[in-house]
Amino acid sequence: MFAVLFGKLRDLLYPLLSSCSVFHVLGLSALTLTLLLTGRLAQLLWKRRELCCFPCPPQRNWLLGHMGMIRTDEVGMQEVDELIRTYRHCCAWFLGPFYNIIRLFHPDYLKPLLLASASITFKDELFYGFMRPWLGQGLVLSNGKEWSRQRRLLTPAFHFDILKNYVYIFNQSSNIMHEKWRRLLAEGKDELDMFEHVTLMTLDSLLKCTFSYDSQCQETSSEYISAIFELSELVVARQRFLPHHWEWLYKRSADGRRFRRACDLVHNFTAAIVEERRSKLLKHGPPDSCTRNNTTGSKKKTVDFIDVLLLSKDENGEGLSNEEIKAQADTFMFAGHDTTASAISWLLYNLAMHQEYQERCRSEINAVLSNRDTEDITWDDLSNLPFTTMCIKESLRLHPPAATVTRYYSQDMSVPGGRIIPQGNICLISVYGTHHNPELWPNPEVYDPMRFDPENSKQRSSYAFIPFSAGPRNCIGQSFALAEIRVVVALTLRRFRILPGSRPTKRLYKIIMRTEDGMPLKLEPLTPSQE
Ligand code: HEM
Repeated sequence: MFAVLFGKLRDLLYPLLSSCSVFHVLGLSALTLTLLLTGRLAQLLWKRRELCCFPCPPQRNWLLGHMGMIRTDEVGMQEVDELIRTYRHCCAWFLGPFYNIIRLFHPDYLKPLLLASASITFKDELFYGFMRPWLGQGLVLSNGKEWSRQRRLLTPAFHFDILKNYVYIFNQSSNIMHEKWRRLLAEGKDELDMFEHVTLMTLDSLLKCTFSYDSQCQETSSEYISAIFELSELVVARQRFLPHHWEWLYKRSADGRRFRRACDLVHNFTAAIVEERRSKLLKHGPPDSCTRNNTTGSKKKTVDFIDVLLLSKDENGEGLSNEEIKAQADTFMFAGHDTTASAISWLLYNLAMHQEYQERCRSEINAVLSNRDTEDITWDDLSNLPFTTMCIKESLRLHPPAATVTRYYSQDMSVPGGRIIPQGNICLISVYGTHHNPELWPNPEVYDPMRFDPENSKQRSSYAFIPFSAGPRNCIGQSFALAEIRVVVALTLRRFRILPGSRPTKRLYKIIMRTEDGMPLKLEPLTPSQE
């Protein structure tokens, strides 16, 4: 439409322009531009009318809408609580004239969106696009047929037979962290930033499970780990600074250059491992399918994610290319370490604040480990920790690591009340909002593991608790994460009493649920008789 309009204007103005001075030409150009921009703005604002069937919280003004009104700190989280108390199901949210968003926080509204076929579900560029140069077309960012093929090829990597082998690694990484804690406590530090320690521990585990790479990152600094931290920080910084949404400007900024450097470092690291493994595979054939006694940890190498990805084949016998495997490995590193670290840190925080639940978990763990020569947690132990699992779930409800998930759809989507979300609109599925919705969770701010007692869960919609999202695009690493969380919490509670830190903890949402200024918790080592 604009091309036609522009053509007509040009034909109209050409005779005038050929006889005018440079000032006239400039004036006319400015006028044309203003007309075009005004037309575009009117068109964008008109589109908002499509969402008039959704309630709309008060806006900053008619043009900016709710721009700048989302805060991600403690105050912002409390504002979301207030929003849910007022709107209960969903509301419209306008980020200037450019982005129209539907925020949803009720299972009846989430269900049709989460269950929609992957062929009509897309990840939007506003929330996910800035990760693309880092994660490429990995599973988190790919769409449609490409995603379906990848998901099929990657699913075997998360089969229980593979995950069982990682339990040994989770034990090992926890042992390294606990050794460090004991040393720091002996040096007189009784309060530690849980987030910092746990994040290094989950990275350590994930590097071993993905690449069989022992980075020793819990003890010494690593360039690769620093680059991963830097990339996560830079993606958030870019999302929040509108001028940097413009690729041309971002590339030339200091942040843009740091981002490029960190991406190069991470990509080179992954490429070197994938290429080396591919050539080993060609020379020596596949590794044994199941190689680790997960209690004792024999000397044989664990089958890691790269091994599984190199061997997986689709129905036509086609495997993943090196480029695809690299994108998946970078994706696992991004999607798997921060989320799990957030889940473990908040769980330890909640148990520190509720000593009665901590004690009950400890008794359960000690009962499982009684009469054993080793302290290692085994795969079979994981299903014998029902109360601890309830505490984990309640922590994931109260502090979901991934607080939002966003999507858009290539066709109109019906939600309850006869409402339609027009195709192309961004749908922000508020995991945090749903988990804090008082209609679903009475006294939502209270940490109460009994909510997950099977008796109390019977009547609840399965879309009321969605820390790993739901439907075809749910988290592929869910079982991996839950196994790791259980091993780490079991070993931690067996060896330490966790107490609240000296400073209050304020929530901060930065892609992942974090804290504003670390998460100080006090630790008391337990002697064998106290266990
Ligand atoms: C407590 C830990 C974790 C939480 C809370 C979590 C949460 C989530 C959520 C909410 C999604 C959906 C994201 C979206 O739709 O945009 C997701 C997807 C994903 N997660 Fe996790 N995750 C966790 C751990 C892991 C781990 C350990 C891995 C891998 C080792 C992993 C790999 C992935 C991948 C690859 C996807 C994309 C799946 C797809 O689109 O098919 N996650 N995760």
